[in-house]
Order: sequence, then structure tokens, then C-alpha cells
Amino acid sequence: MNNKEQTYLSKSGQVNYQSPSNIAIVKYWGKTGIQIPVNPSISFTLKNAVTHTSVAYQYTKGNNTLDFSFAFEGKNNPDFEKKLQVFFDRIMDTLPWLNEYKLQINSENTFPHSSGIASSASSYSALALCLAKVHFQITGEELGINTVSNIARLGSGSACRSVYGGWNTWGTSSLPNSDDEYAINIDDQVHDDFKNIQDSILIVSSDKKSISSTVGHQLMKNHPYQAGRIEQAKQNTNALLDVLKKGNWAKFIEITESEALSLHGLMMSSTPGYTLLHPNSLKIVQLIREFREQKNVNICFTIDAGPNIHVLYPLSNKKEIEEFIENSLAKYCSNNVVINDELGFGPNETGVAGAKS
Ligand code: DP6
Repeated sequence: MNNKEQTYLSKSGQVNYQSPSNIAIVKYWGKTGIQIPVNPSISFTLKNAVTHTSVAYQYTKGNNTLDFSFAFEGKNNPDFEKKLQVFFDRIMDTLPWLNEYKLQINSENTFPHSSGIASSASSYSALALCLAKVHFQITGEELGINTVSNIARLGSGSACRSVYGGWNTWGTSSLPNSDDEYAINIDDQVHDDFKNIQDSILIVSSDKKSISSTVGHQLMKNHPYQAGRIEQAKQNTNALLDVLKKGNWAKFIEITESEALSLHGLMMSSTPGYTLLHPNSLKIVQLIREFREQKNVNICFTIDAGPNIHVLYPLSNKKEIEEFIENSLAKYCSNNVVINDELGFGPNETGVAGAKS
């Protein structure tokens, strides 16, 4: 037995986590170096859109090579394995035992994978939590949540905000403990009115995106509006922090919709320019704005890098807004699909991925 082997506390085992996705209000768009955001972002974690991941580990007697397999919903996924290889290379310094163990990773989503809901946030958050737990079982060292968030970021930027429930911010801002390498939770600075925010996700199209977020981030590098965008996001971050504290829905609506449409404006005005919005996305935007004016209710939309619309509203308006969605908006969705979600409380350790409950 070599010395290293003696120091490992566990030779084999399995860990399981589930982690939700999140929806950004101030959008992360553009990065530099290794996954460092060019602007701060703010999101809340969802409740129902969740990834379950299990990691089985086995000591390989000092093989000194990274050895892993990955299956999504029971099927091997070579495309994702290539991305994971890059991810593991990035975290090797933090988790050096990765070269000494074989990992079997299994993952599945609770949301339909054809729904177009971004899963990289929930996937890498769940995986980072699993790896931190394996690290603990092997070495006895407990990694702090900031380190777990940092590991998740190295897989997918938005994932670093999913290791917590509630409201989170990532990237250096006016908050003294904010950081470019990990997200922090800001629930203690959020008014109760925003702690039960609802998100009905209108699936306008579930087709694969023509341009991935990763390519979109790259296109910000030489974007003519780059400096203006970074300034806008900083201002919106500061303004949103104040809005969340005060429970100011009117200003929340203004910032949220401006961020969503700015994101798509940046895509349209990059070189090459591209459009991810569907004609029905714009129809829904118009109908939400009309409904808000006519009924004088708090309702707004946000949009990620795709055509689907997240309808945001307070719990107190749930009945009226769900009726409006069913009667007036669902017909603009692919197969009338609407996924009702809301703010959730974050990841937890679970049973085995793939096991029937
Ligand atoms: C529009 O986190 O998916 O959803 O870091 O390349 O994996 P990578 O990008 P990703 O980008 C998300 C962009 C966004 C806005 C956001 O979630 O803040």
C-alpha cells in the first residue's frame, strides 16, 4: 500500500444529490478567463425543475488518470462526457484524488428534457455537491459552500447560483462579500413579498437552440455595446438589491423586463447576430403587458437564452394569473405546455438517481 492510499478514508461508495435550476433576473452575459463573469447577476432558485445526480466512486490503486463514465437518464452521453472532461481538468487542483478514483455518474431531470429549460445550472450544481461529499468521505475535509459554488461555476457559470435556495447573487458588486468566483445567498436582504415569487414557464418551443449560451457569451467579447452592457448590469444589480429589500414590485417589473429584452437585443446586435425569440414569444410579451395595464396586477416576464417565457408574479395573484395563462397564453405554447414553478429552498441529499420511488 502506498502512503496516499493509506490517507484515503474511503475506497468506494456512492453519494446522491438533487439540485434545482435557477432563473436570473439580472443576467450573466459575457465571461472572461476561466468562467469569470464580466458583470454581476442575481437569480432565484426554482423548486420543481430539478436534476438528480448520483456519483459512485471506486479507488483505482493510483492509476493516475481520470476515469469516469456519465449516463443521462440511463443512456451514455458522449457529448456531455467531453464537457465533463474539461470540467474535471479545471477542478483537479481542488480535488486531486480525482486521478485516483473511477467515477460513475448518473443524472436525470424532473422536468421534460425536451422542454428547453436550461439544465446546466441544476446539473453542475448537483454534481459539485456530489463531488464535495465524495471529497469529505475520502479525505475527511468538509468543503465550505463557497468552494462548492466555485466548483459548480467551473462547469457552468449559472450553476454556482443553484447550490443555494432562495435569492442569490454572483459576481463582484456593491455587496462587500460578493465574488466573481462564487455566488452568495442574499435571503436575509429580501422582503417577504419576494420570498414566494411564482414562475410559470411557458414552453414556446422545445427545439434545440441554434446557438448555445457558451457561444453567446463569446460573442460579447467584441460586441459594440459591451461596455454599456456591463454598466447596465452593474446598475441593475444595485437597483435590484434595493428593490428586493423594499419589496418594490413596480420597479422589479421594470428591471426584470429590461434585462430580458436587453439580453435578446445583445444577441440580435452581435456579429453574427441571431434571434432565439419565436414570434409567439413576442405575442406573449405583448399580452402580459396588456393584462398588467388592464388589471393593474403585478405580473412580468423574463426570458433566458431561448424562446420560452418565464411569467413572474406574487403568490397572492396566483389564481388570477394562472387563469389568464390558461385562457390567453397557453395556446401560444408548444402543445400548450406550461410548467408551474416557484422559488424553492435549494439542493439536498437524496436517494439513488434512477431508482424508482
Ligand atoms: C442567459 O451559465 O448556461 O441563462 O457558463 O457557458 O455554461 P456557461 O453559460 P450559462 O449561461 C447562462 C446565461 C443566462 C443568464 C443567467 O443565467 O444568468
